[in-house]
Amino acid sequence: MISKCLKYIIKKRGYPEWIESPTDENGESLILYISTYPVVAKYLAKRIGSEEKTIAELCCGVGTSLMYLGEHCRKVIGVDISHEVLSYCRSNLEGAKKDPSICFGSYELIQGDIEDPRILRELKMKETDIILYDIPYWYDHEKQLTSRNPDFSDFIDKVMSVVTDKIVVYAPNHFKETQIHPSLGDYEIQQVYVNEKFDRHIIYFGSLVEKKGLTSLKLVN
Ligand SMILES: C[S@@+](CC[C@H](N)C(=O)[O-])C[C@H]1O[C@@H](n2cnc3c(N)ncnc32)[C@H](O)[C@@H]1O
Repeated sequence: MISKCLKYIIKKRGYPEWIESPTDENGESLILYISTYPVVAKYLAKRIGSEEKTIAELCCGVGTSLMYLGEHCRKVIGVDISHEVLSYCRSNLEGAKKDPSICFGSYELIQGDIEDPRILRELKMKETDIILYDIPYWYDHEKQLTSRNPDFSDFIDKVMSVVTDKIVVYAPNHFKETQIHPSLGDYEIQQVYVNEKFDRHIIYFGSLVEKKGLTSLKLVN
């Protein structure tokens, strides 16, 4: 059962009507309320996708970004700590495969904690070209990220040394540029607005940087 409000959000944001996500007793789904807008995921997929590339998303949730990244890449890999969330992600990516309006390629899902060094090593072994990291902040909206997240720059540094320096990060709107340590090299920090409302930052590292420093992007949903 999903609430009327959630149905409205699914329609308004343009998620496919068959999308599934965990819901509470009131039929609400926090994970979908704070998931990526399709218009943002589609923009990113066009900007960084390539038919020869494998993209892995750390903290992939129910797959709202992977569905669209999968249209522009050879393969997508989703990593999430929650078995339950990954089961919804699998069913959404299977839905994308069947939906003629989404030309989805192939996918693989890995259950695990992104701080477990085996996860990054596995992504390296699978020849991952680009890492997308969606910083989780849904446990605690008010505070600076959450105490559960690894230190931002330490973690990006690890991803760079183990997997690739082609990294994209979805960072919440309270993210501070000062969290990016200069040792990470050039970066682009894009302020993304959807329908004139500030939605999030997207941070690019390595050769994914198109313009150094602060840029802005206005999308209409
Ligand atoms: C907001 S959701 C992700 C939304 C999704 N990336 C999107 O584009 O819509 C955050 C996800 O991070 C996962 N997560 C939180 N901490 C994690 C960790 N340490 N390792 C792996 N996944 C984690 C949660 O299970 C949750 O599914």
